[in-house]
Formats: sequence, structure tokens, C-alpha cells
Amino acid sequence: MSYNTFGQMFRVTTFGESHGPAIGCVVDGCPPNIPLTDADIQRELDRRRPGQSRFTTQRREPDMVRILSGVFTHPASGEQVTSGTPIGLMIENVDQRSKDYSDIKDVYRPGHAGYTYDAKYGFHDYRGGGRASARETATRVAAGAIARRIVPGLVVRGALVQMGPHKIERASWSWDEVNSNPFFCPDAKQAAYYADYLDEVRKRGSSVGAVIEIVADGVPPGLGAPIYGKLDGDLAAAVMGINAVKGVEIGAGFAAAELSGEENADEMRVGNDGKPRFLSNNAGGILGGISTGQPVIVRFAVKPTSSILTPRRTVDRYGREAEVSTKGRHDPCVGIRAVPVGEAMVACVIADHYLRQRGQVGASPTWPFDPPKT
Ligand SMILES: Cc1cc2nc3c(=O)[nH]c(=O)nc-3n(C[C@H](O)[C@H](O)[C@H](O)COP(=O)(O)O)c2cc1C
Repeated sequence: MSYNTFGQMFRVTTFGESHGPAIGCVVDGCPPNIPLTDADIQRELDRRRPGQSRFTTQRREPDMVRILSGVFTHPASGEQVTSGTPIGLMIENVDQRSKDYSDIKDVYRPGHAGYTYDAKYGFHDYRGGGRASARETATRVAAGAIARRIVPGLVVRGALVQMGPHKIERASWSWDEVNSNPFFCPDAKQAAYYADYLDEVRKRGSSVGAVIEIVADGVPPGLGAPIYGKLDGDLAAAVMGINAVKGVEIGAGFAAAELSGEENADEMRVGNDGKPRFLSNNAGGILGGISTGQPVIVRFAVKPTSSILTPRRTVDRYGREAEVSTKGRHDPCVGIRAVPVGEAMVACVIADHYLRQRGQVGASPTWPFDPPKT
């Protein structure tokens, strides 16, 4: 049993700790002949990289990725392509400051994983959270960059749609805006508000949570398997596996409970292209655990960063009550950098199910079917 691996056919194993020499992953099961360079992966990593604005941790990590294996220069095209063998990726840690954590070596940060690691293993790596640090999520973004290239036409994008209690105006949604502000926020006006709001939170030494929405366009119908390999089930597990995520919704999600059957039903017509056309997408692109061909929509709630300057009551490893405040470098809203991580996890799950579909079914059936002969 391995707990550092996810996926069946597109299989990702990550390794490394926050303050070790390097982090990385092995991506196994990637098909051959997919063009892949370091730059393709670096582009995605740069979106998650810390220290790019005053709203994220000031840890200076260049997050330079090295492809160690699994690529080859194609003999005909001269292009670097995947070879079908395991792809090893490594990112060095260069800005560890373990002494920032020496004061909290033996006390548990409420909301962090120190106590549960102790309860399970009998020790915990207090330096930046060790394996529980979100530093590990860089490797998922790297794997996601490969996953994005597997399904033809797949586009996975994410956006921050709520910070603390403040939601975006959905009518103002612009994908172009997402990459123009430091919050991955699709609503320009709300992004401007978030800047002042988060400055105030940061200066107080506090933190806030966020809601992130991931939209995957170009997902072909038929991905996902009933009933223990449902696409929505695997997406929820993958996204819930991101640090600090406390809730996941697909499509209308929890709001579906408030809708009537009439409101919730995604009615169907035949589109001009002869394919089914859904009149709404409350299902979030998934029915019966299988993709419908509509955009797959995943939303997740990220809790506020638990490392805060305000002292909190806690206990230490030796059974004594204590107080703790964290002086290291932290994101005041971890939800911001969770956006590219969420995109990566969704891309990995969809790529995995695409390969599983191809393995079991081969070419997908063509809809509509011929009517029975009478
Ligand atoms: C991108 C990202 C950055 C994070 N940075 C921090 C941080 O600076 N300080 C902190 O206390 N937690 C941070 N976290 C959250 C912790 O890693 C997480 O809360 C901790 O491992 C406990 O796990 P859990 O919240 O999933 O239960 C971050 C999470 C993400 C997704």
C-alpha cells in the first residue's frame, strides 16, 4: 500500500519535505510521443511560485524543475517527447529557514498537522510542516502540466471566487482578468477590494479562507466508471487531498439541495452539431459518475492559514499547556496559491480517466445511435 501515489493509469507519486534538499514526483503511465519540455512544466510552476506578491509567503523559491527521465528526442521530428517510461521531476528547495520554526519545535500549531503526525508516527517534522507543508503541492502542479497535454482539447482553468465572506459578482466573470491580478480573481472590481482587505488581514498577522472554482472544458463524454471509479468521486478525493481543503462541490453542489427537481434537471435538446445540448449544468458535467461532455465544474473551500501571529492556546509534545504564535513566512490566504494546485489535481484525474476509458472501451461510441430495425 502506498499513500503517496494517486491515479490508476496516469499515476503520480510525490516525494519530499518542506525543508529537505528537494521535492519531486514520478509520473508513470504517460503515453509516449507527447511533446514535453522543462519550459512546459515551468510555465505552470511559475503560477504557483511563492513570493510573487505581498499577498503570498515571502519564501523565495525559484521552483526550477528538472526533468530527470521519461523524455527522448524524437528521431524524426527532433522534438523532445515523452518516451512512455516513468517521468521523474525534481525541484530543489533553496530557501529553507528551519530556525524560524525552532520556537515551535515541541508545541502544536492549532490547525496544523503536528499533533496528528505525532499521534501516528511518534514524531513530526516541525520545520515548515515537513511533508504536511504545501511545498509538496509544487510537485502536483508539475504533474498536472503533463496531464494537461494528454487529453486533446482539454483546457483546465481555475479562479478564486470568494475570499473570507466576500464573494465575486458572477456576472462580472472574465477569464482574462484571472491572470491580471495577484488573486486569480475573475472579477476586476472584487480583486481591487481583495487587495485592501487582505492587506488589513496580513498587517493584523491574521489569515482568511477562500473558495476556488475549477472549470475543465473539452472533457469528452464517457470518462469515469460506475460505481467505485466515479469521475466525481475521484475528483473529490484528489481535491480534498490538497492541504487546507475542507469542502468540495461538483456543479450546483450543496445548493442543489435547495433546488426543486424541475430547477435542478439539466434539460436536453439536440444541438446544431447533432450532439446533445444541455440547457443548464447543475450536474457540473458529470452524471452517474461519467462525464456528459459539458464543462466539469469543481468548487472547493480552503480554510484560513493556521500559522498566524495571534497567540493561540495549545499543548506541547510533553503534555503541557502552552501558547503559540507563528513567526515564519506564511500566506495570509492559502486559497490564492491553491488555484493552480486545484487545476493540476483536476487535470491529473481527467487524464487518468481518459486513459482508463481508452483502455477499457477504446474508441467511444458515436451518438446518436441508429434506431432499431423494424
Ligand atoms: C498553497 C498552500 C500554501 C499553504 N501555506 C501554508 C502556510 O504558509 N502556513 C500554514 O500554516 N499552512 C499553510 N497551508 C496549509 C497547511 O499545509 C495545512 O493546513 C496543513 O498541512 C494541515 O492540513 P489540513 O489543513 O489539510 O488538515 C498551505 C496550503 C496551501 C494549499
